[in-house]
Amino acid sequence: SYLFCALTKCVECSSEASELADIEWDNLGFGLLPTDYMYMMKCSQGGNFSKGELQRFGNIELNPSAGVLNYGQGLFEGLKAYRKEDGNILLFRPEENALRMRQGAERMCMPAPTVDQFVEAVKETVLANKRWVPPPGKGSLYIRPLLMGSGAVLGLAPAPEYTFLIYVSPVGNYFKEGVAPINLIVEHELHRATPGGTGGVKTIGNYAAVLKAQSAAKAKGYSDVLYLDCVHKKYLEEVSSCNIFVVKGNVISTPAIKGTILPGITRKSIIDVARSQGIQVEERFVPVDELLDADEVFCTGTAVVVSPVGSITYKGKRVSYGVDGFGAVAQQLYSVLTRLQMGLIDDKMNWTVE
Ligand code: COI
Repeated sequence: SYLFCALTKCVECSSEASELADIEWDNLGFGLLPTDYMYMMKCSQGGNFSKGELQRFGNIELNPSAGVLNYGQGLFEGLKAYRKEDGNILLFRPEENALRMRQGAERMCMPAPTVDQFVEAVKETVLANKRWVPPPGKGSLYIRPLLMGSGAVLGLAPAPEYTFLIYVSPVGNYFKEGVAPINLIVEHELHRATPGGTGGVKTIGNYAAVLKAQSAAKAKGYSDVLYLDCVHKKYLEEVSSCNIFVVKGNVISTPAIKGTILPGITRKSIIDVARSQGIQVEERFVPVDELLDADEVFCTGTAVVVSPVGSITYKGKRVSYGVDGFGAVAQQLYSVLTRLQMGLIDDKMNWTVE
């Protein structure tokens, strides 16, 4: 029935599957809008994933003793699909998400879909929900793959069964500021990740761990939190939901991937775009003091894309950047990256997948 739906007319809603969903496309934020279908695939511990399928989007059933509920054995990914003017839909580097999920699964003792299975499942899910991909310029379809220990365990051990699930939602800007600069506060008590821990993979617990500091920061009017390393408490790590870059002259610096930093796909893409534009990039330990005389600071992530930082507060001292918009470097990188993602410029890197 899905094939029937995607190719001709939907048997359930009798609308053309390629029509746009009937929603207000002008004011998308970053919240869940339930769509038509989700993708599900299961496998047992030690087995391989096979025979995934689309289902109507909705609640899922889990044993109360599921590994993900009891011991946090779970990973997620995030990627986006963009609608082009000609109606085609572009994915941005989906195989990178597949590879990152596989690396995370190794750390979390989980089996993972192959790169091909992952990318095919993403394509199927996006096509089945095609009417939810926003019109060009109005946003994107956020794709959220999950991998979780769905089998029952009581003693601490890897779950006996795993579920790979993909759901999607149309989204606009991540921060309520839109593309206006965000205001960060440096957290010096709570930490996001520890050496030898799981900060370098996209496990669900990393995101639960930042909620306390993030909520406190939001209550004080900040947009989000910038974390420091937990050993020296003086090197930048990342923001709750994104990576960070510091601009000084023609050099952009970002914390090196060393186990506590999430290897962002937007981070990696921005590094390549910057180098292709003649900007020097340094991946290294970035002392928090460098924020004091930076020319610009910006964040990168799938959800946030490239987000300019307007101010950072550290131990009560607020440092501001720029006037009230993107700095020149962040603007240039944002513009190249987003035009690539939307298919508006030649994709010499072969990053987009139709
Ligand atoms: C993303 O940018 O896709 C993420 O996974 C971050 C999430 C907290 C929205």
